[in-house]
Amino acid sequence: MCGIVGYIGTQQACPILLKGLRRLEYRGYDSAGVSMISSTGELNVFKSKGKVDDLESFLEDKDVTGTIGIAHTRWATHGVPCRENAHPHFSSTGTLSLIHNGIIENYASIKERLKEKGYTFVSETDTEVLVQLIEYYKIKYNSDLLSAVQRALSQVIGAYAIAVLDKNNPDEIIAARKASPLAIGLGDGEYFLASDATPIVEYTKKLIYVEDNEIAIINRHSGVNIITIQGKEVSHEVSEVNLDLGAIEKGGYEHFMLKEIFEQPECLLNCMRGRINDEGTDIRFSSIIDYGQRFINARRLVIVACGTSWHAGLIGKSLIENFCRIPVEVAYASEFRYSNPVISEEDVVIAISQSGETADTLAAIELARSKGAFVYGIVNSVGSSIARNTHTGSYIHVGPEIGVASTKAFTGQVTVLSMLALCIAKERNTITQEQLQEALQELLRIPDKIREVLKQNDTIASLSRTFTYAHNFIYLGRGYNYPVALEGALKLKEISYIHAEGYPAAEMKHGPIALIDAEMPVVVVATNKALYEKILSNIQEIKARQGRVIAVVVKGDDTISKLVDYVIELPETVEFLYPLLASIPLQLLAYHIAVCKGKNVDQPRNLAKSVTVE
Ligand code: AGP
Ligand code: GLU
Repeated sequence: MCGIVGYIGTQQACPILLKGLRRLEYRGYDSAGVSMISSTGELNVFKSKGKVDDLESFLEDKDVTGTIGIAHTRWATHGVPCRENAHPHFSSTGTLSLIHNGIIENYASIKERLKEKGYTFVSETDTEVLVQLIEYYKIKYNSDLLSAVQRALSQVIGAYAIAVLDKNNPDEIIAARKASPLAIGLGDGEYFLASDATPIVEYTKKLIYVEDNEIAIINRHSGVNIITIQGKEVSHEVSEVNLDLGAIEKGGYEHFMLKEIFEQPECLLNCMRGRINDEGTDIRFSSIIDYGQRFINARRLVIVACGTSWHAGLIGKSLIENFCRIPVEVAYASEFRYSNPVISEEDVVIAISQSGETADTLAAIELARSKGAFVYGIVNSVGSSIARNTHTGSYIHVGPEIGVASTKAFTGQVTVLSMLALCIAKERNTITQEQLQEALQELLRIPDKIREVLKQNDTIASLSRTFTYAHNFIYLGRGYNYPVALEGALKLKEISYIHAEGYPAAEMKHGPIALIDAEMPVVVVATNKALYEKILSNIQEIKARQGRVIAVVVKGDDTISKLVDYVIELPETVEFLYPLLASIPLQLLAYHIAVCKGKNVDQPRNLAKSVTVE
């Protein structure tokens, strides 16, 4: 996920582009760059590692003149964050520059073809392949930029929003989209493009949203023309947007956390894209293709992580043990590193981390490697230390998570762990083809089912008001839902500062039940078919002691619903996927309680997004 911006008109482009990038920084912030055609006709590209502020300092002594330009703030998918991999990318002759949001899936085969024709590459990105391919067609057919873009895009598989500048035509930007957002702003003699409306609304409220497989020709004199990749003219309604400038950095949401909760359906689709085929009949993980034997022969797996990522690890243990029949241990990275663990070459260690920079997890990885273990990373931040220090791994691809309380990274981690378990089970033959397909097809339905759950946001918001003054909370769950209970409790603690404990439901009677009285809210995740009667008894025990129960149940469950004080319903799914649905209302509950208490939801006290110290 990254942000793109473009401008053509009468004003100097650079300040408009930089301001636009700042508005899009929530989409990615590992590196940034701009490209303008200067007043003397030069096509300049300037880029730097880090945030937009770093880019601005870098630009201080550069020629940033020009009334046409494009800019990018990156969240790397291919190649580490560094200046070479930052966008815009130049073509070989330096006459074209291009920005891209998305992934060119068949970049490797195109790159090979271009290399055979003598093209060289300066970055590791999929994006550079596209700008070279456009130039290749432009030269081969002696054509204009538009025809070359059409030819190139008809070869490309993947997702993109792109914008291209041609040194020889300082009056035109060519932009295109497939599966990544692209909006065009129509000003008075000036035009804007961006990943969303936020960089544009300050200048014009008139917007066109470019659709999939369309190309926009944005010309200084003739305005905006839109055609399909095949060249058919299309017309678009001009929308009027009204956005509060103060709110737009958060994409219209009050907090990053809420935005990230609502992004989850899209994020999980991104996470599954390219791994599960559209029909849900097969799954491929490149790391398992390359290193499958390590998993097939593993004596056991050890998962190391901290906080929310550790909770995802607990779900991973159930998934891998159930599907693959390999014993799994889950350790807090901070404990593992000082515990003199019994680890050998036959073990696989899985390190899970959103930031990829957590110091304890990094140290655990180092220790595991020194003992000869094979280390697999499940990470969100591309190119982060953990991603670099593991032997291989899988990114969760949920985009930058800014709210300190992790939400979409958790469901992304659980999604990757589910896919990983199914993939290893396939390799080890511990799952039938029929079971595999059933599981994959249900996994593909999860984003839509999350959308269903999110519709209960208002109900959860009003329910939260009732609990603003609670001092304690208990969260209960069994099996796959036990870590969901732990995670629900952590979310509440982190942002509302209410003391909360998560327990396996049946453990309650071994101690915590002493805490239950009319003042104690208890959240019970009660979706388990197999253990339904047992959970029901646990709820009866709480009600018998006047505890107030909020139950998360499967839609149509009349028995529990009649017994408890508040009910949140989930669409039906298979047992191992309930954590992905049940986590959503618990995130919303924590969020709304914290908002009611007036807490700083995105930056809770004493916490940091990336814990790089012990
Ligand atoms: C989650 O809400 C946290 N703020 C925290 O527990 C976090 O999950 C933990 O610090 C691990 O971070 P990581 O995933 O970036 O390694
Ligand atoms: N795939 C491109 C890259 O890694 C673009 C990523 C993005 O959308 O930020 O550079």
